[in-house]
Amino acid sequence: MCGIVGVVGSPNAASILLEGLKRLEYRGYDSAGMVIMTPDGQQLVKEKGKIVNLEAALNWDELKGTCGIAHTRWATHGAPNQINAHPHVSGKVALVHNGIIENQKALKIQLTNKGHEFVSQTDTEVLAHLIEDFYDGDLVKAVQLALGVVDGAFGIAVTHLDEPDLIIGARRGSPLVVGVGEGVNYLASDVAAMMGHTRQVIYLDDGEMVTLRPEGIHTTTIDNEEITKEIQEITWDLDQIQKGGYEHFMLKEIFEQPQTIRDSFRGRILPGTGDVKLGGIELTDWELRNIRRIIILACGTSWHAGLVGEYLLEEYAHIPVEVEYASEFRYRSPIIEPGTLCLVISQSGETIDTLEAMREAKRKGAKVLGITNTVGSTIARESECGVYIHAGPEIGVASTKAFTSQVTILALMAILFGRRTHLSADRGTQMLQELVKLPDLVQKVLDQSDAIKQIAEVYAGHKNCLYLGRGVNFPIALEGALKLKEISYIHAEGYPAAEMKHGPIALIDPDMPVVVIATKDGSYDKIVGNVQEVRARDGKIISIVTEGDTEIAALSDHVITIPETMNFWTPLLSVIPLQLFAYHIAVIRGEDVDQPRNLAKAVTVE
Ligand code: F6R
Repeated sequence: MCGIVGVVGSPNAASILLEGLKRLEYRGYDSAGMVIMTPDGQQLVKEKGKIVNLEAALNWDELKGTCGIAHTRWATHGAPNQINAHPHVSGKVALVHNGIIENQKALKIQLTNKGHEFVSQTDTEVLAHLIEDFYDGDLVKAVQLALGVVDGAFGIAVTHLDEPDLIIGARRGSPLVVGVGEGVNYLASDVAAMMGHTRQVIYLDDGEMVTLRPEGIHTTTIDNEEITKEIQEITWDLDQIQKGGYEHFMLKEIFEQPQTIRDSFRGRILPGTGDVKLGGIELTDWELRNIRRIIILACGTSWHAGLVGEYLLEEYAHIPVEVEYASEFRYRSPIIEPGTLCLVISQSGETIDTLEAMREAKRKGAKVLGITNTVGSTIARESECGVYIHAGPEIGVASTKAFTSQVTILALMAILFGRRTHLSADRGTQMLQELVKLPDLVQKVLDQSDAIKQIAEVYAGHKNCLYLGRGVNFPIALEGALKLKEISYIHAEGYPAAEMKHGPIALIDPDMPVVVIATKDGSYDKIVGNVQEVRARDGKIISIVTEGDTEIAALSDHVITIPETMNFWTPLLSVIPLQLFAYHIAVIRGEDVDQPRNLAKAVTVE
């Protein structure tokens, strides 16, 4: 949430910051700004709205300097307007901030009593004034003193005009990564901002700070203890974070799924044994056999992947599973017994609710295993062991390819755990044979994109939509509804199909499209009944059925087919048309698909 970029030592500081902001725009996009240290003083530019507005406001002649910091904002305190945009300035101090300063009210009163005047409604401005208040010629010391009295979460970058070749970064709860160059050094909330300039990075941990000068980098704790950090190499490429000819990142990412699913299982299947190897799971066979209970912690789409995982793990590993909203888990008294394994699922690896839930689970003695996409993210680093999903950078705010990769990993885990207990080699082999066919089957569903667009044209003007599914496809109903509401702003609900008669059926009328996932499985006959109930009330039915189905197809207004596979693998196919349906509807309605209103890619505030 919010993007931070800083650069020191480059004559092109302003253009590097602008480029970095564009790469981080998915993190927040309600306002943006930058400050450059120039011989004529610190030049500050801020604009409401997207980065293009900031770009239009830049006067390049005035921005000639080698050091600066910039920010793209997702508002927490104060409306998204120009005044509240970052950087915030107090005297010669400039600050960009990601997170929330919880004791800002008390600090503001103290600072106001000392004569400080505030112009914005932000907590960030309070921190800028606090640093200025402590400043007596040493910015490092002033930042350390200020951070010593603030409560809350932060990732910050700070400059001071009297030390124009210096940026200070510090983090507690919000990610920060340092880019190591030659004579030029970088700071950002996400490595994407510095791609193309350096591949050498240092991930800061909570409680750490860094000073960046053109000639070098120095890391300490916020309490000023020296620390040595490892430099890591980024392995992915710039073209992975560009649109590659697609109109939107979301469409590109939907179409990448045959490849990303393949990347998720590649090298992890052990041929001939019906078994899998997940290198990051540092549990012995004995420990795997003694898992008595699994708690899955996640938010949003990752939580939906967790729900699919519940079906898979209970079916194939015979381990009881609970799937918890991370935000709820962390604020109650969760009972963690010996033998409890927590699976923590997060695309970004930075979602604060998920991170805090993970910390709580660890504190209570659970073994914690992270399933993340983002190498070096906080959850990846803090979980005791983990698995990367290898979906590559996901830029579209609505999660698509990360979801199918998360489910793929959970499928592999179900086999891994199952093979340690009762699952036979034959059954494991058969399941894996079906799994490796999925990328080609996903492609067959993607090939129907134009037909799905035609259905989207019929429903783009509707105000509501109901999604129904049963069994392992119930979470797909939830995920389909989430995709539609977050990018098209159409109200949508997902329900287990049988629940419809307990309430939502009251909503059914000719204006209510109902998307039914009705693949061939043990509950097929029941779902036929549910479809008839909708039809009897003149609801419009869009069904997702298995190829060759005629019964539900005959009852439906529109039919989308998915190829046949094992029932428990169908979510990896049935979710694809729902992603495309939501995408096409949003495009038809003229919405900003990649950056939907009020959302941000990594939710690093509570
Ligand atoms: C929906 C979406 C969000 C995220 C949620 C968790 O499309 O993207 O619901 O799934 O914010 O994010 P991660 O997986 O990064 O923890």
